[in-house]
Amino acid sequence: MTASNVSPSPPPSQHNNKAIAALVAGLVLLLALVGIQNAPPPSALAPAVPRIDPNLVPLVTGEEPIQELFVRAGCVVCHRIPGIAGADGKVGPPLWLGKTGAARLADPQYRGQAQTVREYIVESVVSPGTYVVPGFPADTMPVWYGRKLTAGALDKIAAYLELAMDEP
Ligand code: HEC
Repeated sequence: MTASNVSPSPPPSQHNNKAIAALVAGLVLLLALVGIQNAPPPSALAPAVPRIDPNLVPLVTGEEPIQELFVRAGCVVCHRIPGIAGADGKVGPPLWLGKTGAARLADPQYRGQAQTVREYIVESVVSPGTYVVPGFPADTMPVWYGRKLTAGALDKIAAYLELAMDEP
């Protein structure tokens, strides 16, 4: 063997190392790009408050079965309601007033007119600003339910919710 036969290029093992390094760098870049694309946009991180268009809510008469009544009125979007399928909203408090109603009336911050839990429920629906449940956002529950729910519908809602309890 003569010196002219020695190849100037690095031995094959070094070649492989470079190729692997380039491949790993490429993969890392690719993963980073995919990660960036999958990250939610900043607006999606803020809790979404559903806005219900009153024009899309039909008049609720109280003739409807209770399940349909709560769905039609849109309550299910913001509230959990025991026994009502699909009522898993988290914007407002769970509507189990059989459990929580008495404490609302006893709250020193309560300034409303209601004497009973049933009256408190009606007041909460037609005049949400009268008492804002601590820990929940004010000015969020629609203020127009008095125009969309008949007296019969309100009575049916109150009769149901005053007995509603936490599910086991
Ligand atoms: C866009 C969201 C939203 C919708 C729709 C909505 N609510 Fe509410 N509701 C809230 C929020 C938020 C609160 C808590 C703040 C407050 O007291 O106003 C609340 C509070 C209440 C309370 C008082 C609960 C308690 O624990 O003292 C009752 C009762 C109630 N809602 C009933 C209803 C009924 C019935 C409907 C449908 C006819 C309805 N809500 C639709 C958001 C909503």
